[in-house]
Amino acid sequence: VHWTAEEKQFITGLWGKVNVEECGGEALARLLIVYPWTQRFFSTFGNLSNAEAILHNPHVRAHGKKVLTSFGEAVKNLDHIKQTFATLSKLHCEKLHVDPENFKLLGNVLIIVMASHFTKEFTPACQAAWQKLVSAVAHALALGYH
Ligand code: HEM
Repeated sequence: VHWTAEEKQFITGLWGKVNVEECGGEALARLLIVYPWTQRFFSTFGNLSNAEAILHNPHVRAHGKKVLTSFGEAVKNLDHIKQTFATLSKLHCEKLHVDPENFKLLGNVLIIVMASHFTKEFTPACQAAWQKLVSAVAHALALGYH
């Protein structure tokens, strides 16, 4: 992926203001609510029976933080995204058996969370840079599948 200086600025600039616990928890919760079939991967997380339960589930929040922290490695390594996620890709394929289509769903949910948190600052040009980033991460996470 090639990044312009402007795109890098949109990504790193906004990332510096992201609260990974809050946004990560909210993104994973939204994934589980909007695409309920994704709940099957998280059967050990306890009560996921309705939107309120999911939004307040501490396992969802903690795992969302873990995932978004990991996503942040892409922001720090914009020019080496594939290598950055090589090990995690294998883990999601071989151990977790997560269909890679779900990486795209999570990326789009993350965009919505960013838009709702940053409103005016999340301009169309800023969104474009972020869409490119979530696509690159989803692609990198799918590369270890066989
Ligand atoms: C675990 C990252 C998307 C399902 C993990 C872990 C990380 C991670 C860092 C912990 C690995 C470890 O313990 O060594 C990511 C990133 C994603 C992503 C960066 C996309 C941006 C997804 C999606 C799903 C998923 C979309 C399923 C819908 C899981 C599951 C675990 C896991 C089931 C194990 C959870 C447990 O501890 O029981 N992921 N993940 N991941 N991920 Fe992902």
